[in-house]
Amino acid sequence: MVGENVHSLESIRSSVPKLFGVPSGVEGLDNMFYKVEITDGKVVKSPLGGYPYLGVINITGVADTGKSLMVEQFAVKQASLGFRTMFVTVETPKEFIAQSLMSRAKAMGIDFDDISGNLFIVDAASNHRLREDLDYLLDTMAYGIKTYNIKNTVIDSVTGLFEAKEVLARSVVRKIYNFLKKWYQTALLVSQKRSSSEEMSAEAAGGYGVAHIVDGTIVLYKKLIMTKFESNLYKVPIGSVVRLFRIDGCRMTGHDSRTYIFEITDTGLVRILSPLDEYIRG
Ligand SMILES: Nc1ncnc2c1ncn2[C@@H]1O[C@H](COP(=O)(O)OP(=O)(O)O)[C@@H](O)[C@H]1O
Ligand SMILES: [Mg+2]
Repeated sequence: MVGENVHSLESIRSSVPKLFGVPSGVEGLDNMFYKVEITDGKVVKSPLGGYPYLGVINITGVADTGKSLMVEQFAVKQASLGFRTMFVTVETPKEFIAQSLMSRAKAMGIDFDDISGNLFIVDAASNHRLREDLDYLLDTMAYGIKTYNIKNTVIDSVTGLFEAKEVLARSVVRKIYNFLKKWYQTALLVSQKRSSSEEMSAEAAGGYGVAHIVDGTIVLYKKLIMTKFESNLYKVPIGSVVRLFRIDGCRMTGHDSRTYIFEITDTGLVRILSPLDEYIRG
C-alpha cells in the first residue's frame, strides 16, 4: 500500500489553507508579516495583519525578555475576537497564569468577563504526568481542541517538556509540531534560550532544537547598556535596558527581517517601537 503515500499536487490543491494574518495582540507586530502578490506584473507587498494562519511560531529568548507577555497578549486578543485559545502552561500553575491573563486583558482594555469563556488552560506545571508523558499531554490537548472547538494553541514553554533530556528536544518539538498541524492550530511555542551567546540568533540551548522544525522564529533580546558608547548609540542612560526584537525567519510568508527596538510597558505589554537603524539615526 505504498502508493497511497504519493499525492499529485492536483489532489492536494483543494485542501491548501488560505494565507491570512491572525492578530497577535502586540502593537506593531501584525504588519511585520506580509504577503507578496503579483498584480499587473508588479510585485505588491501587502501586510498580513498577524501571525500566518495555521503557522507554528517559535518565540525564543533568555529569561525575562517578554516571551510570556507576548503569548499571553496573543491568547487574550484571540479570545476577544471570539477564537478559542488553549494555553498549555508548563512552568506556572494555572491560577497564576489566570492572574497574568487577567492583567494582560486589563492592560489591553479588554473585559475579562468577555473572554474568559474562550480561554482554556492545560496545567502541565501542576500535573506531573502531563509534563513528563508527551503522548498523555497530546491526548489531553486533542480532547480540549475537539471538545471546545479550539483554534489557537500556546505552549509556554516547550523547553519545560524536555528539561534534563535535551537530546530529545527535536523529537519532542517535531511531535508537537505534527500534532498542531494535524489539528489545524495557529500556535505559538515559547522556547527558552539558556546561553546568552549569539543572543540575537535562535541558536543556543532551547532555540536549536526548535528553529529547524517550526514555521517561523521570533527572537527577543535584552541588552544592558554599560558603556558610554552604547549609551550614546542607543540614547539611553548607562545601566538601562534596551530590548530588541527580530523575526528570525518564517517559511510561510514574507516578513520584515530588520531588528526592532521594543518596550515592555508599565502595565506589562510588549510593544514594538521602530527599526533599530531608524531609531539610531534618530
Ligand atoms: N506589569 C508588568 N507585568 C509583568 N512584567 C512586567 C511588567 N512590567 C514590566 N515587566 C517586565 O517584563 C518581564 C517579564 O517578561 P516575561 O514575558 O515574563 O519574560 P519571559 O517569559 O521571556 O521570561 C519582567 O521581567 C519585567 O521586567
Ligand atoms: Mg516566561
